[in-house]
Amino acid sequence: MQLKEKVIFITGGAQGFGRGVAEAVLKKGAKVCIADVNADLGEATTRELQASSGPDYVLFVKCDVSDATVFEDAFKAAVSKFGHIDIMCNNAGILDERIWEKQLEVNFGGVVRGTMMALNHMRKDKGGRGGVIINTASIGGLLPSFWFPTYAGSKSAVNHFTASWANNPDMKSAEVRFVSICPSGAETGLLESLQDKILNYDHFKQFMERSKYCRVDQVVQAFLLAMEDDTINGTAITIKLKEGVQKVKMSLVPIE
Ligand SMILES: NC(=O)c1ccc[n+]([C@@H]2O[C@H](COP(=O)([O-])OP(=O)(O)OC[C@H]3O[C@@H](n4cnc5c(N)ncnc54)[C@H](O)[C@@H]3O)[C@@H](O)[C@H]2O)c1
Repeated sequence: MQLKEKVIFITGGAQGFGRGVAEAVLKKGAKVCIADVNADLGEATTRELQASSGPDYVLFVKCDVSDATVFEDAFKAAVSKFGHIDIMCNNAGILDERIWEKQLEVNFGGVVRGTMMALNHMRKDKGGRGGVIINTASIGGLLPSFWFPTYAGSKSAVNHFTASWANNPDMKSAEVRFVSICPSGAETGLLESLQDKILNYDHFKQFMERSKYCRVDQVVQAFLLAMEDDTINGTAITIKLKEGVQKVKMSLVPIE
């Protein structure tokens, strides 16, 4: 999909990967709705982006993806401002094993809510314009990760949910593609002050020092690939510092 004048809804867009994606698609002439639970930061980010892209190209809506009504209202506000949504990035996430139920509600519940809402809006067989749904998972959703079992479980669910939708035969006439993004560790807000939030913190720190953080711009590159390459569907895109961006097919067992 060409991004010029397309409309992109990004949850967790106030900082980190979401902000990076917003900046990149604005440079390509797209319009962006940043939806984030952090209103102060979201508004500040939006003002900065509006200063370079123009006020009509960026909207901020306060939104907690774990609250169905609030999330729906945010989506409706974006549709009302821009007319429609072409690309949905369900990207908001948290990492804190102490509040595992909240983690599941945000990391997986938020992705399910956002996917269903966007699919109903986009599907061409029901009057929409088609589109792409991109869900942020994690390398931790492809590999067992003993430092944060619930987080890893939530991200594994995101990968499986996304690929399962992609394999539904009705999605051909719906003209909606589904992609999950699987970054390795990156130095964003998510990995700040983790000491009490994960298990075996010292081991994790040593592991990250050895394996090296990937860069936000590499993750943004994976998002752009998912948006622009119309042949990608049902794929998890992994991002590692050295290997860069790689496509992983999610179907390990052939469907009879
Ligand atoms: N940074 C990493 O190492 C890493 C690696 C793999 C996957 N991820 C995933 O990438 C995504 C983006 O994270 P990031 O690294 O940019 O972190 P970040 O903390 O910098 O940004 C996350 C954003 O999500 C927002 N957010 C949190 N809870 C929310 C909610 N309930 N509703 C709406 N917005 C909410 C935050 O306010 C923040 O702006 C997350 O899903 C995260 O799990 C991050």
